[in-house]
Amino acid sequence: SHDVEESWDDEFQQLVQTFPKDKSFTGMNLYFFQGFWCPSIVLKAVISCQKHFQASDSDILIATLPKCGTTWLKALTFSTLYLSQFARENNPLLTYNPHSLVRFIDYDFYLNDTCPDLENCTLYQPRLFSIHLPYASLPTSIKDSNCKIVYLCRNPMNTLISFWSFFSRLRGEGFEPVSLDEAFEMFCQGINEFGPFFDHVLGYWRASQEKSSKILFLQYEDLKEDINSHLKKLAMFLGVPFTEEEEKQGVVEEIAKICSFENMKDLEVNKKGAQTFGYPQETFSGKTKTFVIPREAFFRKAKTGDWSNYLIPSMVERLEKLIQEKLDNSGLTF
Ligand code: A3P
Repeated sequence: SHDVEESWDDEFQQLVQTFPKDKSFTGMNLYFFQGFWCPSIVLKAVISCQKHFQASDSDILIATLPKCGTTWLKALTFSTLYLSQFARENNPLLTYNPHSLVRFIDYDFYLNDTCPDLENCTLYQPRLFSIHLPYASLPTSIKDSNCKIVYLCRNPMNTLISFWSFFSRLRGEGFEPVSLDEAFEMFCQGINEFGPFFDHVLGYWRASQEKSSKILFLQYEDLKEDINSHLKKLAMFLGVPFTEEEEKQGVVEEIAKICSFENMKDLEVNKKGAQTFGYPQETFSGKTKTFVIPREAFFRKAKTGDWSNYLIPSMVERLEKLIQEKLDNSGLTF
């Protein structure tokens, strides 16, 4: 299998040479691949995952762009889906970061071209995974099977500010973000991790309109406004609706509270240590590739209008125009 891996490595090296390259405003190198900007550190895993991942009809997939509320959605979906599988006072979220409980299919498992033992990689059944890939680039078996997808997006202004702040905070830890001016420009041009932003959002939006039983399309701002009704919607969609009894006992409110920003950011597990993505394995560059993010960086402000503290009026005007142009006639609004 060593030879197989080496020849895949050669093949990959050849392949990437054909892709356009750029640098994200976060400092990450990006390759333009299948119509989106893929971080170079995960591209190989993405391709392997596309080749090998076999979805099963019972799988649940969380899909997001980075900084759109992935951590929150992982917590909400985990708690709802597995409600009957752990004692309520022992929710694993109290002792584990959501990214430890719900792994990314591509870069947590496929840094080499080998098929990992995915049967035993989730704590509970049905399997729950997450992914940042655009809809069009999902492994075929995900699109062709009956597995369900929960998609969460966020107002582009909030997303941009969250993105830029996150990586500014990680400066010196392998990320060298640029000024907000430059970041803004690149975001508008669609050059950021798994972007263009609007292609990502519209890809899932259209798919959800065609197959509403397969894809649940959610918006961060709506969840902030009314978490309880969205939790019920989520549970219904996942096929585990809350019983009348559970609702009477306040289970919905309990999940909302455990997963709330205020609760999660103050948990011991989220205040210290770091989250490792990927397993330590050799990659095409010959270096060990995992990336490590301090857990507290996943919890910043969780506000919906924080962009107004950063974006100057001309930026807001330009983004509003872009939103209008891109979402025109789609039925989607921010
Ligand atoms: P801000 O930077 O605006 O504060 P992701 O999880 O996709 O990386 O997204 C991160 C954003 O979600 C950050 O937004 C973060 O503060 C916010 N967030 C993290 N945990 C949250 C929670 N439990 N509820 C609501 N928002 C949360």
